[in-house]
Amino acid sequence: EQVVQVVNNGAKVLRGNEMKSLAVLESRLPKDANRRDGLSVVVDRTGNIHDIGYDSDLDGKYTEQDFDHIVDATGQCVIPGLIDGHTHPVWAGDRVNEFSMKLAGATYMDIHKAGGGIYSTVTSTHLATEEQLYSSLVQRLQTMLQNGSTTIEAKSGYGLDLENELKILRVLHRAQKEGPWNLSITYCGAHAVPKGSSAEVAVKDIVEHHLNAVMEETKAGRLTVDNVDVFCETGVFTVEQAKAILRKGQSFGLNANFHAEELSYLGGAEMGAAIGSKAISHLEYISPEGIAAIAQSGTVATLLPTTAFQMRLPAPPVRRMIEQGVAVAIGSDFNPNAHCLSMPVVMYLAAVTFHMSLEEVLAASTINAAASLNLADSRGSLEIGKVADMVLIDSPSWEHLIYQLGNATKLISTVISKGFVV
Ligand code: NIG
Ligand code: FE
Repeated sequence: EQVVQVVNNGAKVLRGNEMKSLAVLESRLPKDANRRDGLSVVVDRTGNIHDIGYDSDLDGKYTEQDFDHIVDATGQCVIPGLIDGHTHPVWAGDRVNEFSMKLAGATYMDIHKAGGGIYSTVTSTHLATEEQLYSSLVQRLQTMLQNGSTTIEAKSGYGLDLENELKILRVLHRAQKEGPWNLSITYCGAHAVPKGSSAEVAVKDIVEHHLNAVMEETKAGRLTVDNVDVFCETGVFTVEQAKAILRKGQSFGLNANFHAEELSYLGGAEMGAAIGSKAISHLEYISPEGIAAIAQSGTVATLLPTTAFQMRLPAPPVRRMIEQGVAVAIGSDFNPNAHCLSMPVVMYLAAVTFHMSLEEVLAASTINAAASLNLADSRGSLEIGKVADMVLIDSPSWEHLIYQLGNATKLISTVISKGFVV
């Protein structure tokens, strides 16, 4: 029996209730009931999708000789490559001790203020060589890819000072050039206030000096930077400070895509909407006004269920966002505080703890995550002309990838990135 499903939609982003209306093309029984009519995806030599259709239609257009390579997906499901909308993948050391402390009752901010948290990772990352950071990054990206993520948003932010932020961005640039994945790279120098400095001084340094230096390197082809991020939070950077950094980044053509309303309400969502941010992450404490503002501006809400789960934060008001027409994306937020490399686990938590339907979860981790990174023209759905990023799932329906918690690497038979089996 052949059951092939292709999840496909023509939209660039799915807002609110549209999120459950992903078109799922299913294989069908032709008149000749001896042969179930499967679907095929034809990929060209540049790695783009050239054609999609039922075999009965495609058989007349192509012969086997037209293809260098055929992947037999009989009995399997095909979905677009997953897109992880938020990760912090370049750092050294670990924070397993803090995991114990949190289980014993310490809060994230207690640990941060005591010089642990991001600061402890900054210290170990400063000590690491570029080579060490590169090899751990590649291992992490490989695991993400095995779990179905073909596009990954990847932030700097454990350097803080210019020299170490540039080191991290170089590591990301090299991984983007050399690896089979697609990275969307984010400068997040404003991830914490550097030790011994103040938020005012840090913002001034970033706006007047660091961002310019980063963009000089980008212009010279030595770095790739797509987005700019700030940790906008009580005790870290204020809404006004975040705005100054994001606007400076936008002046260089970067997409504003930042952390807000995670541990407290500050009005970051309202500000982000006003400046035309592509995406805002976390949003546990978003206000009703903030929801209305991002629905209006089309800013994608990138929600991070593993972090909320692990830190026992209240869930963000996801149903309300969706009802109000917000486009919701999800991400793993992979970082030393919330260590998860698997989008299918994130998808499961989004469904169970954020009350999202399976269709909404799939939209959030494909087309909407693409939109959050300004990539929806080329990624996030299986459509002619888009990049051939695909995940083959060896199960009777794609929902199994979410339903079977912790079994993704077993269910995923093949990952295709940019048209190549990886
Ligand atoms: O998205 N909130 C800020 N940044 C990360 C955590 C980083 C860390 O604790 O190392 C986050 O949760
Ligand atoms: Fe984060």
